[in-house]
Amino acid sequence: MAKAVYPGSFDPVTLGHLDIIERTAKMMDHVIIGVLNNNSKSPLFSVEERVNMLKNVTSHLDNVEVQSFGGLLVDFVHQNHADVIVRGLRAITDFEYELQLAQTNRVIAPDVDTIFLTTNLKYSYLSSSIVKEIAGYHGDISGFLPPEIARIVRDKIRSRQ
Ligand code: PNS
Repeated sequence: MAKAVYPGSFDPVTLGHLDIIERTAKMMDHVIIGVLNNNSKSPLFSVEERVNMLKNVTSHLDNVEVQSFGGLLVDFVHQNHADVIVRGLRAITDFEYELQLAQTNRVIAPDVDTIFLTTNLKYSYLSSSIVKEIAGYHGDISGFLPPEIARIVRDKIRSRQ
């Protein structure tokens, strides 16, 4: 049974994330999306909201589950008896940070490997931060997020202004 953890902040989940999740779900027997519970990053959405949004957009995928985690990612991987961490690589600018993350994780947990999927070219420029910035100025975010998530983001921004 190949089991993968796909970790991230997902604040909010984008079409780029969903593309990686769907492709990982095809390759692995089971995928656990690990939503980082870390208030020091001051997320727009609470961890419960982020988990619920991910559950909503992955409900069509039978072998995908969503959990939140705090603390070290490799501990979460061990607790779930997973084999690998999956991360998406958008561009060369992601590489240095992702390599540092993967190498550090491998030093503290040599049994855990990280595999990288190149992001679909359509979404290679996309990030949750950019989407939040556009939404903050009431720009059109419909091309970046699943429709139900775009609605939730617009509502959240409106409620904060
Ligand atoms: O979507 P993000 O914010 O780029 O995801 C970053 C994430 C969650 C993968 C990373 O911050 C993480 O693994 N945090 C957990 C703490 C940890 O294990 N740190 C040591 C790894 S260097």
